[in-house]
Amino acid sequence: MSTGPFTIAIDGPAAAGKGTISRAVAAHFGFAHLDTGLLYRAVGAQVLAGSDAVAAARALTAADLAASGLRSAEVAQAASRVAAIPEVRAALTAFQRSFARRAGGAVLDGRDIGTVICPDAEVKLFVTASAEVRAERRFAELREAGADVTRAGVLADVRERDARDRERSTAPLVPASDAIEIDTSSLSVDAAIAAAIAVVEARR
Ligand code: DC
Repeated sequence: MSTGPFTIAIDGPAAAGKGTISRAVAAHFGFAHLDTGLLYRAVGAQVLAGSDAVAAARALTAADLAASGLRSAEVAQAASRVAAIPEVRAALTAFQRSFARRAGGAVLDGRDIGTVICPDAEVKLFVTASAEVRAERRFAELREAGADVTRAGVLADVRERDARDRERSTAPLVPASDAIEIDTSSLSVDAAIAAAIAVVEARR
């Protein structure tokens, strides 16, 4: 693949498989990868620690993305809340856009990459799965990490976050009109990755 900018935007709801697909696609093509949810999680974590959301977003540094605990369910909910604040989203836009256009290619995964951050991305994927399948995956992950969670609690959490992400007025979770949808509900991890790589190959 060429070494100029080439942006792959991967959006979708929580636990649909975006992260796994994004990491695999980036590794396959030798592209850099940015999990943009981490930006919102880092801001959410700082809000839980008492900071102002907008100030935290404006002052965010790479080191904040490496903070421990950003994967917890509590931080995910805080991230979803700060993500509804237009000034928070605006403060994080320039960083994401410059990452997207870096030389050598980039994969960004999130909720609004194909619609707002990179409307001109060379490839746009929208990765989905049913709420039940996503909750089951997140439940297994959280249990694996030692979290004290229940299936019903995780499903309620997934639905609450979905609703907030889809219904917010600024940059709601919605597929770009030119995104290709991959429903991973009944796909193995390998099959989902292969489907994504095939879409990118077709655009080279
Ligand atoms: O992908 P994730 O679960 O790490 O995202 C955490 C929250 O951040 C999610 O509920 C919505 C928000 N988010 C967003 O609004 N826009 C993005 N590009 C990425 C995440």
